[in-house]
Amino acid sequence: MCGIVGYIGAKEKKEILLDGLQELEYRGYDSAGIAVIEAEHLNHFKAVGKLSNLREKTKEFHTDGFGVSIGHTRWATHGKPTELNAHPHLGQYSYVVHNGIIENYSELKKELQANGVAFLSQTDTETIVHLFERYNAVAASPFDAFKQTIERLHGAYATLLITEAAPETIFFAKNGSPMLIGLDGSDIYFASSDTPIIGKAKEVYYLEDGEFGYAKEGKIHLFDRNGVRQIVTRALASDKAMAQKEGYRFFMEKEIYEQSSVMSDTMIGRVKEDGVVFEELDEGFFDGIEQIKICACGTSYHSGLTASYLLERLAKIPCSVEIASEFRYKEPLLLPNTLFVTISQSGETADTLEALKMAKKAGLKSLSICNVDNSSIVRESDGVILTRAGIEKGVASTKAFATQAMVLWMLSLHLAKLRSALSPQRVAEEISAMLHTPKALIVSDELHGRLHRLSKRYLHGHGFFFIGRDIFFPLALEGALKLKEISYLHAEGYPAGEMKHGPIALADSELFTIALMPKTLHYEKIKSNVEELSARDSTILAISPEPFDLADDFIQTLSAAHPMLEFFEMMVVTQLLALEISVRLGNDVDMPRNLAKSVTVE
Ligand code: M6R
Repeated sequence: MCGIVGYIGAKEKKEILLDGLQELEYRGYDSAGIAVIEAEHLNHFKAVGKLSNLREKTKEFHTDGFGVSIGHTRWATHGKPTELNAHPHLGQYSYVVHNGIIENYSELKKELQANGVAFLSQTDTETIVHLFERYNAVAASPFDAFKQTIERLHGAYATLLITEAAPETIFFAKNGSPMLIGLDGSDIYFASSDTPIIGKAKEVYYLEDGEFGYAKEGKIHLFDRNGVRQIVTRALASDKAMAQKEGYRFFMEKEIYEQSSVMSDTMIGRVKEDGVVFEELDEGFFDGIEQIKICACGTSYHSGLTASYLLERLAKIPCSVEIASEFRYKEPLLLPNTLFVTISQSGETADTLEALKMAKKAGLKSLSICNVDNSSIVRESDGVILTRAGIEKGVASTKAFATQAMVLWMLSLHLAKLRSALSPQRVAEEISAMLHTPKALIVSDELHGRLHRLSKRYLHGHGFFFIGRDIFFPLALEGALKLKEISYLHAEGYPAGEMKHGPIALADSELFTIALMPKTLHYEKIKSNVEELSARDSTILAISPEPFDLADDFIQTLSAAHPMLEFFEMMVVTQLLALEISVRLGNDVDMPRNLAKSVTVE
């Protein structure tokens, strides 16, 4: 949610900021802005909407010589996406950018207003810059004023502040929202994730919660509430090539096509002939674990639900799954011997991160399944299995979901072996199926073409029901979420057997049922459920290896030998269906309205 960049040095600042924000635009794209201080002179620009508007607005602006600069791309939390609410926010002589939520902002705002401060925006962020200037009027130094400001803030934030009172300095603080510092000689960069600084900085430091400080004259001065902190940087990767579209119309499309190859990366070195190994986990990591609790949001929650079937079926270990935002406030019972598993593509989802912190506080061992190394969730967890999907840019998650489901299937098999829950022959069957997964994910021209043609019949209606049973129920939820996110059509995922308990009342020819009908799992059961809907005139799109007479439309999948292979094949069908419907409706596939790739607010 929201992206931040910052730079101190003599290079052209506008380009560094705009290029950096481009990389972060998936985090929010309601508005964007930059501020630069050069030769003690402050300049700023803001624009509503996509970054291209800001680019246009800054066409004639160029920087020259040493200076400090900050930029921001916004996903609105407090106040509408207007230019006044866009960051950077201005005081009398300072600018601030912020990602997160200042929970006590209304109290701070009242206090400042009582002291005569006039607010221009409706944001929580603006309180930071006014607080700073108020303290700076009496503080021993601007840094003291910044420190006092940070001490007053409650909530999650990553923030950068520049001021004419210290024109060669960037002040920074992080608590609960991501931020890192990149270094290349005396050039210093800040960013919400590493993509904006790849190819620019050589080394990186990922700030910890509670750290703050300032950067000046090529040096970082780092503190936490106990005093001075040592910066230990690490080398920054240099590969950004994966993030380009490579001829596809959309990142989402490219990411759907990539699923077959990234799946091999997910398995490499882990899926062996006689079982699954995770060298990244300490030996004995699972010792004493008697149950598993999974916590996640959105698509990651859906892969967690899939895992609950697999873990109980294969590893015979009790497993419960929770939506992180619900879990946090339900006063959950956290029993010892429970492994707390978080799943997150970004590793920065605020609700999931906070749930993880709660579980840790309760003394539970934690494991994260994540796509972004060094992300907050990864750093907070006792053990980590990276999904290795590569950078996912489309806001609607595809390959991240596929690799999560794969890792969780692998984890189930790993635990099954540790717990001697499956016969060697059954383990061998699972391994063989895993190795066939990349094939199940190949997108043929024929399939894509067929979904393109068929999509024109699904642009209206009063709703979609994606239905499935067992692991195909979470897949139905995920199919419906994909369609909602990028088509803005109403869609629900439902357990097929539950339709007759209420939702079937909605059935008529304008209700589209997308039926996931695998041959390897409960085929006859789901067939009856679909027949019930067809009898009530619902329009049926059946996805199955088995031709189905009552289907109005039919996508034939390959006869697969294993439910997970059917799962992955049907997943691709639902993803492409959502994509093609969205394209026909003229929507922005990669940056759908109101969403952000990384949800770092609760
Ligand atoms: O980064 P995370 O996996 O923790 O994100 C969780 C959800 O915000 C995310 O899956 C969201 O639902 C996606 N837009 C789904 O396409």
